Amino acid sequence: MTERTLAILKPDCLDKRVQGKVIQHILDAGFEIKAMKLTKLTEDSAKKFYEVHKERPFYGELVSYMTSGPVIPLCLEKANAVADFRKTIGATNPANAEEGTIRKMYADSIERNIVHGSDSPENAKNEIAHFFNDSDIV
Ligand code: CMP
Repeated sequence: MTERTLAILKPDCLDKRVQGKVIQHILDAGFEIKAMKLTKLTEDSAKKFYEVHKERPFYGELVSYMTSGPVIPLCLEKANAVADFRKTIGATNPANAEEGTIRKMYADSIERNIVHGSDSPENAKNEIAHFFNDSDIV
């Protein structure tokens, strides 16, 4: 069954100018891009997006990093999109990511890990709605 997930190409992805390569990797993995934009998160928006992590020691740094430069959120669609996208990007910590995954190829650290992917279909719905209205999705 077709499913949607949210990806965010993070500030380090754009800093390294590899957003084109990462988007091609996502397309080659079979995902349809249903919505995409270039934007910059405000502090309030980043805090809200990562609210589930607010008690974690890295929350402050995560918010300041995610607001440090432009990002590219994408709504992606495919069968089993949530789990398959997490496989495509690899482990949160690139040191543990499998060969051929986006994080293994491009990420430097757990903080600067190039890309975000929703971790459940329910979170995916909320995360897509954080960035896109229904009318933005083609
Ligand atoms: P992401 O998939 O965007 O979801 C939450 C983010 O928090 C995660 O990617 C990492 O970038 C970051 N993160 C998770 N664990 C840690 C950690 N132990 N230290 C620093 N950042 C972390």
